[in-house]
Amino acid sequence: MSEKQLTAPDILARKGGAKIAMLTAYDHPTGLLADAAGADAILVGDSVGMVCLGLPDTLGVTMADMLHHTRATARAVKHALLVADMPFLSYQTSVPEAVANAGRFLSEAGARAVKLEGGAEFLPQITAMLDAGIPVMGHIGLTPQQVARFGGFKTQGKTAQAARKLVDDALALAEAGCFAVVLEAVPDEVAAHITERCPVPTIGIGAGPHCDGQVLVQHDVLGLCPGVKPKFVKRYADLWTPAREALAAYCDEVREGSFPAEAHTRHMAEDELAAFNTRRDG
Ligand code: KIV
Repeated sequence: MSEKQLTAPDILARKGGAKIAMLTAYDHPTGLLADAAGADAILVGDSVGMVCLGLPDTLGVTMADMLHHTRATARAVKHALLVADMPFLSYQTSVPEAVANAGRFLSEAGARAVKLEGGAEFLPQITAMLDAGIPVMGHIGLTPQQVARFGGFKTQGKTAQAARKLVDDALALAEAGCFAVVLEAVPDEVAAHITERCPVPTIGIGAGPHCDGQVLVQHDVLGLCPGVKPKFVKRYADLWTPAREALAAYCDEVREGSFPAEAHTRHMAEDELAAFNTRRDG
């Protein structure tokens, strides 16, 4: 693990070198975990809406939500580059609003870069953020903030025309100055081609093994969310089952009176207890 905290230029310098391992985190404990595990970059993703807030998609996630979760995560992260996700409508509406919102993640919440979804259509916002000194990570392919337009969470770039648009977008984002580009739910062949041509690191999620790095949602890696598992996710643990069993054991012990036991119980000093009993009796 590196001594100093990684920066956006450090991640950029990894192009074609050691692969970049990125994880999401949403709060202090998950930030501590990802940082202790040696992640190179930690993303406070707007996936917080689905993973932590019980929302059906990311469209309801607000700037206030993202700032709150980024602040908590930033207090934990000491080694990885901390990237905050720009939520829906925080950058799409105008260039000044985009810069002001992106800047808040650095000045108020402790992030050192932002990520935003979309291709060449957002170059004015990206250029203005970079001019303001805010490192930007791009994100193309399945961009979940477009779920209503896509009609669901579907693989993108499956036709030759759509694949060419993804290549053009990746190159445009790199040329504008993004230090890395996330490729989400993109066919392996397209991700491999983009990775070969793009001068900045590609970070894949559901985009095959040829990207310069990978990102996964921490709760998926740990098996903390029951239910369906997307094909691209590898669960490295099933923490849901032991966690549920531990909590059920606690509930049982409370009900049957075996918790708290003597080991979990505090007592008064004998003289204080005697005085307490005397006054109580008198
Ligand atoms: O919000 C998120 O978690 C993301 C990653 C999946 C890339 O955008």
